[in-house]
Amino acid sequence: MEHLINPKVKDLSISGIRTFFNLVAKYDDVISLTIGQPDFPTPDGVKEAAKRAIDDNFTSYTHNAGFFELRKAACEFLNRQYRLSYSPEDEVIVTTGASQAIDVALRTILEPGVDVLLPGPVYPGYEPLIRLAGANPVHVNTTQKGFKLTADLIEAHLSEKTRCIILPYPSNPTGVTLTVQELMDIATLVKGKNIFILSDEIYSELVYSQKHVSIASFLREQTIVVNGLSKSHSMTGWRIGFLFAPKELTKHMLKVHQYNVSCASSVSQMAAYDAITNGIDEPIKMKEEYKKRLEYAYDELKQLGFQVVKPDGAFYLFPSVPNPNVSSFDFAVDLVEKTGVAVVPGSAFSADGEGFFRLSYAYSMEQLEEAFARMKRYVYSSK
Ligand SMILES: Cc1ncc(COP(=O)(O)O)c(C=O)c1O
Repeated sequence: MEHLINPKVKDLSISGIRTFFNLVAKYDDVISLTIGQPDFPTPDGVKEAAKRAIDDNFTSYTHNAGFFELRKAACEFLNRQYRLSYSPEDEVIVTTGASQAIDVALRTILEPGVDVLLPGPVYPGYEPLIRLAGANPVHVNTTQKGFKLTADLIEAHLSEKTRCIILPYPSNPTGVTLTVQELMDIATLVKGKNIFILSDEIYSELVYSQKHVSIASFLREQTIVVNGLSKSHSMTGWRIGFLFAPKELTKHMLKVHQYNVSCASSVSQMAAYDAITNGIDEPIKMKEEYKKRLEYAYDELKQLGFQVVKPDGAFYLFPSVPNPNVSSFDFAVDLVEKTGVAVVPGSAFSADGEGFFRLSYAYSMEQLEEAFARMKRYVYSSK
């Protein structure tokens, strides 16, 4: 039956992050710095709200876009945090994680033959969805620009076929984000063109040196904002994300969402309501802890001679592989074999990630200290 499978699906491969995660599972005593998942438990209040939802039989379908109070709270959250204004009536959809939000958005705006510009290296979740829609991913190499997809890089790659630009900042895998000026320059370039911006802001609550600003502040009419609670509230398994966009766009995305999942899980929606109302400040505590780890891990990497751009947000570092003649995959395999420290090869984040590796610091200080003690031995023994 293999020949009956959709060729576009056959051509997809499993994410390089998962492949490497599975590969390291066979080694003993591994410290895995591979997964982008907060190491904190979901806040207690959120868990209690979900338990109450079950006991109160809040277990049926909700409105396709999510129950109204949650949509209202999500709009208020976005307004309070980032000064963005969306109507809870018809400009927000509660999704099954940011992943489904991205899928719904891309399926709504893409068609065969159009191009999508996205930075390289980049989170591997976009390219397969672009290809499934019959569109072409155009990775723009950002390695010479501090991993930023800037207006001049965009301008150099725009064509008649460009339908969408993905701005995933703060970035997975590099942790960098765009400044207000850089966002304004992009907005000026794109304004009035037949192009959408898909702004994936899933790490917006984890920005260290500045306040997060969304490109929607400058280009609301053309922007689809993706956000969610997986990273901010340590809720990866609850699967709650959000889509915000002008109502002319949301009404089409809602159809795709409806035929895809009907609605996000009602119990998770109730948990999400607690997270963005009573639990609005929960990310602050986690962020303080991540910041300490970032400073520690960044200093250690520098002391060991790694070249690395200092991130502004998220919980990743993206250093260069020390020997330019060794591929990122071979480096990661050698590191895990010799030290038991697992990182993700940069090639998992598009071809532009070759020559780098991703280290997640969503791990305890003890784990990070042990990982760096081992890496120290590795670096000195290879000199
Ligand atoms: C940039 C980015 N967008 C989206 C997602 C998916 O988020 P969710 O777990 O809410 O689907 C991730 C998860 O790692 C991510 O790093």
